[in-house]
Formats: sequence, structure tokens, C-alpha cells
Amino acid sequence: MKTLKVYINHHGGPEALRLGDTAIDAITGTEVLVRNHAIGVNYIDTYFRSGLYPPPALPSGLGTEGAGVVIAVGADVHDFVVGDRVAYVQSALGAYSTYHVVDQAKLVPLPADISFDIAAGGLLKGLTAVALLTRVAAPTRDDTVLFYAAAGGVGSLACQLAARRDIKLIGVVSSTAKADLICNLGAAHAVLADSDFTSTVRVLTHGKGANVVYDSVGRTTWSKSLASVSRLGHIVSFGNASGPVEGVNLADLAKAGSVTVSRPILFDYIADARSLRSLAAELFDEIRHGLQVRIGACLPLEQAADAHRLLESRSSTGSVILRP
Ligand SMILES: NC(=O)c1ccc[n+]([C@@H]2O[C@H](COP(=O)([O-])OP(=O)(O)OC[C@H]3O[C@@H](n4cnc5c(N)ncnc54)[C@H](OP(=O)(O)O)[C@@H]3O)[C@@H](O)[C@H]2O)c1
Repeated sequence: MKTLKVYINHHGGPEALRLGDTAIDAITGTEVLVRNHAIGVNYIDTYFRSGLYPPPALPSGLGTEGAGVVIAVGADVHDFVVGDRVAYVQSALGAYSTYHVVDQAKLVPLPADISFDIAAGGLLKGLTAVALLTRVAAPTRDDTVLFYAAAGGVGSLACQLAARRDIKLIGVVSSTAKADLICNLGAAHAVLADSDFTSTVRVLTHGKGANVVYDSVGRTTWSKSLASVSRLGHIVSFGNASGPVEGVNLADLAKAGSVTVSRPILFDYIADARSLRSLAAELFDEIRHGLQVRIGACLPLEQAADAHRLLESRSSTGSVILRP
């Protein structure tokens, strides 16, 4: 049996992505073969493509998120049977494919009322948004949070989750169209990335600053995050869209007001099947109660490079998915 698969031979820009047929080995142990119906595209996929995060080996597949139907199971798989609807995050690289082999511990049973597209577009980003707002930091009613890339995949979900909890979210976005979008999703305010938004945050918080700053942009926004956070506030640095943050001076955290900094990765919040499925159940419940996973773009698998261009050009909103 073969799968159509997107892979890279070397690191580079979106043009490094290749498409080809690969043989699928016999399914053994705790492996599950999933026929993908929709594939999630995440910013982290661009890090593996560019080499910012090194894949285990080259050539390498790309992508770690998808949703589909179980086609075959290994002898030690007890949680799933052929025909089950499933979704997965943080599989081995290679989800950009028609079929993908996933360890059963990375799989979530997909309830009948959650579509493949919503699962592929919302599972990794939604688990991240829920973990950021309820585990990594826990802002409460009337707290103010600053959230970068607020119209993106993770951001558009965070805007809605914050609004449901009466948390005032100030979203940083790069266009007025994105500003309108996040205000419709529940952001209390939108500020433009190229404006003096640190001053605006101080004005909006009566000089105090944001209780929590969620920074996924990294290198170019670190000093702005320090300037926007409140005394005893928390900067959650969770992404590198502009490159990694380096050379942090601990004394700067003291000067900014005894600030806490964390650098979370979703993996640690879903490291075993039980915590993954329990966080996923929370997310599915949020979706049932109105959380909208916005699919901003759905492209054929063959156009995976265009999906990366969309994310990196800052022109996408909501989630980007691939159709195998
Ligand atoms: N730590 C974790 O476990 C974890 C898990 C999931 C995601 N993340 C991180 O969360 C972030 C969002 O992920 P996503 O998949 O939902 O992507 P996304 O937000 O849909 O897309 C990226 C957005 O980042 C913004 N951006 C700001 N500066 C940028 C720059 N220099 N280059 C490119 N984009 C820039 C753009 O929004 P504007 O144009 O509006 O600024 C762009 O639309 C990423 O940084 C990702 O690595 C981390």
C-alpha cells in the first residue's frame, strides 16, 4: 500500500516541499493507520521546514495533525477499531499525506458531531488556546490580556475563549480587516502591530499594563511584551513567528515589575493519552457551546507550499487545512 506524501529533502522556503508516493510498512504494535480526511497546517510546520526546529532525519515528512478514519490497527491497539473516526495531534512528522501511521496514544476519538475539517483545523490550535488560558496562566474575569496574532489559528480561538470568561483581550493584528474580525470574535480591543501599541495598552489598562501577555511572535516583540505587562504580570512566550527570543536578561524581569515568564509547549500538557483526551473533551465541549473554529483556507494537499506561504505572509486568518 502507498500514500501520497509531502516531504522535504533539505531545509528551505515553501519551494522545498515535494510531493511523492511512499510505501506504507505493515502496521504493528500500537500503530494505527489513519486515512486522512483533513490535515491541519500549523505554524510549527514552517519551523520544521526551515530548520528552526530540526526534524529527526532528512528526508522528512511534514505535519503532525489530521482527522480521518481508522483503516488498520496493530496487534497491541485496544482503544480503536477499524472504521473509527479519529483526530490526532503531535504525531510523528508526516501528516501531510493521504494515509498516516499514528501511535494510538496520540489519537483522540472524534465524536460524531465534530466534523473532520473542524477537528483538523481546531484540535492543535484549540488545545493550545485552552491550555494557554486555563493552565499556563489563569487570567480571571476582568483581567486584561494582550494576545499577538489574534486573528490567526490559535488567536481567533483565544479571542472567543477569553470573551466567554469575561477576560478583556487586547489583540495585536497587522491589518484593519483583522482588527474588525477579532472584535467580532469577542476581543475587547484591537491594536495594530505597527503602531505604538504598548502605549495604547497602558491607556486601556489605566497605566497598569496587561496581567498576561501571550507572545507567539518572539524575537521582534519581546521588548514590547516587557513594556506592556503589568507589575507581577506574566509573559507567556509560546512561539517564534519572527524568530526565537534570545539573550533574556533576568534583571529586566525585575525592572518590569517582578514579572514571571514561561515558555510552554503544548506537548507537556498532553504528554499522555489520558491528558490529551481529557483536554480534547474540554475543547469539544467548548465547540458544542458555540466556539467557532474558523477555517480561513482549505487547499488541496498538492498545494501545501501555498499553505505555508499564506501563514508566513501574515495574510491568513483562522485555521488553514489541507484536503488529501
Ligand atoms: N508553544 C506551543 O505549544 C504552540 C502550539 C501551537 C502554536 N504555537 C505558536 O502559536 C503561533 C500561532 O500559530 P498558528 O498555527 O495559529 O499560526 P497563525 O497565528 O495562524 O499564523 C501566524 C500569524 O502570526 C503573525 N505574525 C506576527 N509576526 C509575524 C512574522 N514576523 N512573520 C509571520 N507571521 C507573523 C501573523 O498575524 P498578524 O499579521 O496579524 O500579526 C500571522 O498571521 C505560532 O507562533 C506557533 O508557533 C505554539
